Amino acid sequence: MTAIPAWAVVKPKRVKHIGRVATLLDEWAGALRIDQSQAERWQRAAVLHDALKDAGPELLASYAPQGDWPDKLWHGPAAAAAAARHGETDPGVLSAVRYHSVGFAGWDSVGRALYLADYLEPGRIDQVERRADWADRIPEDLDGVLREVAAQRIGALIAAGQPLLQETWEFWNQLVGAA
Ligand SMILES: [Fe+2]
Repeated sequence: MTAIPAWAVVKPKRVKHIGRVATLLDEWAGALRIDQSQAERWQRAAVLHDALKDAGPELLASYAPQGDWPDKLWHGPAAAAAAARHGETDPGVLSAVRYHSVGFAGWDSVGRALYLADYLEPGRIDQVERRADWADRIPEDLDGVLREVAAQRIGALIAAGQPLLQETWEFWNQLVGAA
C-alpha cells in the first residue's frame, strides 16, 4: 500500500480501514484493467481520505475552515488541504478526498471509486452480503452500483431527517441524469 503520510492522525483501527479501502481499489483497478497511472491516483486517494479522521478540531481548523459542514464531515476538506500543502497537485485526487463523505458532481473516476470503496470495504459490519454483492458487481457495472450505493447512502440521510449539502444533491442529480 502507498504509505500513509507523516502528517496523518490515525488510530490503528483507522489504518486497517484505509488498508482495506486501498486493497479493494487495487482489486477493482485490476479487474477494470485501468492503467497504472490511474490506479496510482486511486491509491493516493485511499491513503489520504481518512488521514485526519482521528484529528481534533483545532488541527482540522489549522488546515481548512469548517464552514457550515457538520463536524463529522470536516476531516475530508482538512485532509485535502493538508495533502495539497504537502505536495499533492492532482485535482481529481484532491476532490475525491475533500468530498468523500458527501459526493461531488465534478468527480472523475478517483472520487467515484473512492466513494464506493469507502462504503463497500469488507470491514464494515452491517449489510455484509449486500456490500459484498455490490463490490463484486463493480467490474461489470460501476455506474449502476454507484447509483444504488448513492441512493442508499443519501436515502439514509433523508430517512434520518438530516439536511443534504448542496454538493450531495448535485451529485445525485448528476447520477440520475438530471443535471
Ligand atoms: Fe474511509
